[in-house]
Amino acid sequence: MDEAEQTNTDRISTGIDGLDTLLYGGVPINNQTIVAGGPGSGKTLLSFQILYNNAKKGIPGAFIALEERPNSIIKNVKKTFTSFTDIDELIEKETIVVGGEDITTKVDAGSDSEAYSFGNVVSDIESIVKSNNSKCVVIDSISLMKLMLGNLLLYRKSMVALSANLRRLNVTGFLTIELPSTERTAMTFSPEFFIFDGTIVMYQSWEENKRTLNIEVIKMRGSNHSLSLSPYEITTRGFRVFSVSEL
Ligand SMILES: Nc1ncnc2c1ncn2[C@@H]1O[C@H](COP(=O)(O)OP(=O)(O)OP(=O)(O)O)[C@@H](O)[C@H]1O
Ligand SMILES: [Mg+2]
Repeated sequence: MDEAEQTNTDRISTGIDGLDTLLYGGVPINNQTIVAGGPGSGKTLLSFQILYNNAKKGIPGAFIALEERPNSIIKNVKKTFTSFTDIDELIEKETIVVGGEDITTKVDAGSDSEAYSFGNVVSDIESIVKSNNSKCVVIDSISLMKLMLGNLLLYRKSMVALSANLRRLNVTGFLTIELPSTERTAMTFSPEFFIFDGTIVMYQSWEENKRTLNIEVIKMRGSNHSLSLSPYEITTRGFRVFSVSEL
């Protein structure tokens, strides 16, 4: 029996075969994982698919959109994942709840950091999670919070509080974050990578005019995981992660 089989009940599977292989079966239940990547690397789509795959198994989830309107998230995932024909049905049944506060409107309105209440975002998350008893939560993304909160110490404290709140709510969380660079060689570790339990990074690189996509698990508290860098593809039937067989 391999490690994944021994511990599967303690994990939330992502439902993406190659990624579950990298994670030795999935993410430990109640872990909070950062999904980091450059623009367009697929952070929103990947985290939505993890919710979707779990919702298909009857595990309720919440997608909290902080930078795009919920309707635009739903429209985009349906456009990409054309074979996921039951997204609307899962949303109607509230197995998936897509909600959130569009904090970008506050930026547009010129609000300063005092006007922005981090506590409000946390209580909104709590009420969305409680509305369908979510076990799996995506927050897309936490990047803007850094700007809104103004200073790094306050941001760090808020991220520690966010992590503690998600743990208190008994959810397994995936929090997307934008990286300034798409390349692995330019990767730097910002505070979130230390605060949250897990880090998955999505890279893009260009060789001979072709873009290649790769995914890596940097850390996962409470679990062993693969150290491989694995190519991935985004398809109409979801993500394909080509995990290199372990040595
Ligand atoms: N049908 C498709 N087939 C292949 N790739 C697709 C398809 N639809 C979208 N994509 C890819 O998905 C990317 C967008 O994914 P997503 O919105 O999840 O990225 P993101 O990392 O969240 O971006 P951002 O930083 O802008 O929020 C597009 O840039 C494109 O490369
Ligand atoms: Mg996104």
